[in-house]
Amino acid sequence: MRQFQPLPTAVGVTMLDEQQKILLRDSWRMVVPIAETASDLFYKRLFELRPDYQRYFKGDMPAQKRKLVAMLGFIVKAVDWPDSAWREQVDADQDLFLIVLALGRRHSELYSIPDSAYEPVGEALLWTLDYGLGKAFTPEVRDAWTQLYTLLALTMKMGRLSVQPAEDRDRVLRNIIASDSEVSQAGE
Ligand code: HEM
Repeated sequence: MRQFQPLPTAVGVTMLDEQQKILLRDSWRMVVPIAETASDLFYKRLFELRPDYQRYFKGDMPAQKRKLVAMLGFIVKAVDWPDSAWREQVDADQDLFLIVLALGRRHSELYSIPDSAYEPVGEALLWTLDYGLGKAFTPEVRDAWTQLYTLLALTMKMGRLSVQPAEDRDRVLRNIIASDSEVSQAGE
């Protein structure tokens, strides 16, 4: 059974609610002590699913594993922002949206990652969380991570829009949203 099915973005991705933020924070706390093993398992699973993706990873893998864990830690902390704080200013270096847009642009422009790669990576991530958390990976925790990853993947894909010629941006954005919906409908 497929583990990761992106949410249908064309009909509207709902934001994470307060309960989901708590589930993400608490489940991530359980991952932190086993982060090294979890990141080993994540890449092992990814390369089982897609052996051809090894070609994208040209750098130092132990460093890459640490960067991925650090980024996920930052993301979980950043989304754990109380709804009541919506009036507060956010510094640019703490602005999750800007950071994830730039991360996505690097994936597209520097690492040549196609949009289609977000699905197997999401599947490997959910598989790893399932394996690592065991019983604590309840359906609600799975839904929260699926929702978070769907939002991240969409934002990362949008990261390259700023370098797209202006006349192409609308078409590219429509394609990003349409391809997410197609994947999700195919998985239903
Ligand atoms: C939510 C999704 C993802 C997150 C949070 C993430 C996170 C990261 C981070 C933090 C880095 C370190 C370098 C940097 O900051 O630019 C990185 C590099 C990289 N990521 Fe991702 N990534 C995601 C999705 C993907 C996907 C879908 C692929 C496709 C296979 C991918 C492949 C790579 C590659 C090839 C590198 C460069 C590795 C190298 O230097 O050899 N990532 N990623």
